[in-house]
Amino acid sequence: MSIEYIRSYIARDMEIVDDVIREKLHSHVALIRQVSEYIINSGGKRLRPALVILSAGAFGYSGKFHHNLAAIVEFIHTATLLHDDVVDESELRRNRETANALFGNAASVLVGDFLYSRAFQMMVEVDNMRVMQVLADATNTIAEGEVLQLLNCRDPQVTEENYLQVIRFKTAKLFEAASRLGAILGNASPEEENAMSVYGMHLGTAFQLIDDMLDYTGNNHDIGKNLGDDLAEGKPTLPLIYAMRVGNPDQAGIIRKAIEDGGKDGFQPVLNVIRETSALDYARQCAQAEVATATAAIAALPESKNKECLLQLAHFAVTRNY
Ligand code: IPE
Ligand code: IPE
Ligand code: MG
Ligand code: MG
Repeated sequence: MSIEYIRSYIARDMEIVDDVIREKLHSHVALIRQVSEYIINSGGKRLRPALVILSAGAFGYSGKFHHNLAAIVEFIHTATLLHDDVVDESELRRNRETANALFGNAASVLVGDFLYSRAFQMMVEVDNMRVMQVLADATNTIAEGEVLQLLNCRDPQVTEENYLQVIRFKTAKLFEAASRLGAILGNASPEEENAMSVYGMHLGTAFQLIDDMLDYTGNNHDIGKNLGDDLAEGKPTLPLIYAMRVGNPDQAGIIRKAIEDGGKDGFQPVLNVIRETSALDYARQCAQAEVATATAAIAALPESKNKECLLQLAHFAVTRNY
């Protein structure tokens, strides 16, 4: 089974999700339509909505709300991207200019707010208190994660534990919510719902660990973003934290200074140290361990095509190059 197979397996559902997204992007304010359609139409992997669909399917859900929840989760994700690219001063996403580069920071922030609040309107339509609780908590935790990360910027003392907390909050929480929501819709038992949430949390953690590796070694065109954005912001991600820990004093000094200074100049020297210390092997092993935990969490679920897809998605999270 491949990621292409998963895509074709849920293609019909994802078309409906896309219809919901398009319908719900509507606003009387032209700039909102312009910016939100710009970023949504530029694609993206749509992994979080896929998780909602697969998780609901794994529990035999046969209603229609999974399409709404999938669209809601993608709206929340898109809002975080609009805000994140402003904060990270990023210029490329999905192989296009970022919305902030094209429309400016103010428009990006405000349209991000529009998408968050539209997601809340859509949640209310689903009229399920548990669903609202999960999404409200996830959105709040993402914001905490982004602020925690802001505090960590340019600080070479950040520990692996601090870093893991940031990525669990800013990224894994939404994967967790997406996985849990499908289980809630499908009336899963509390144990099954918990299993899905553990799966999503660890899958999301692995996903961000790999994202942080790709920021050093990815291919610009494949990832659709500029390499080195993390270092430019002085973000102490795992490859750097590890390289400082195991490197000799000179190597650790190169990384420390690059984190403190930020900018793009330190990129090549830092990349050299990352290679010399095999820091990417370490980060990949951590991601693999997360995926192993994710996979184990759902081992007891009844066998189904949906479950197979969830397992395969976990595999994709660590083997992907985009
Ligand atoms: C980007 O997420 C932000 C991270 C959590 C790393 P994705 O890599 O899922 O972004 P798109 O939606 O596919 O562009
Ligand atoms: C993920 O962090 C951001 C969010 C969860 C909003 P990154 O800053 O690494 O994401 P990219 O690399 O810009 O997509
Ligand atoms: Mg970013
Ligand atoms: Mg990144």
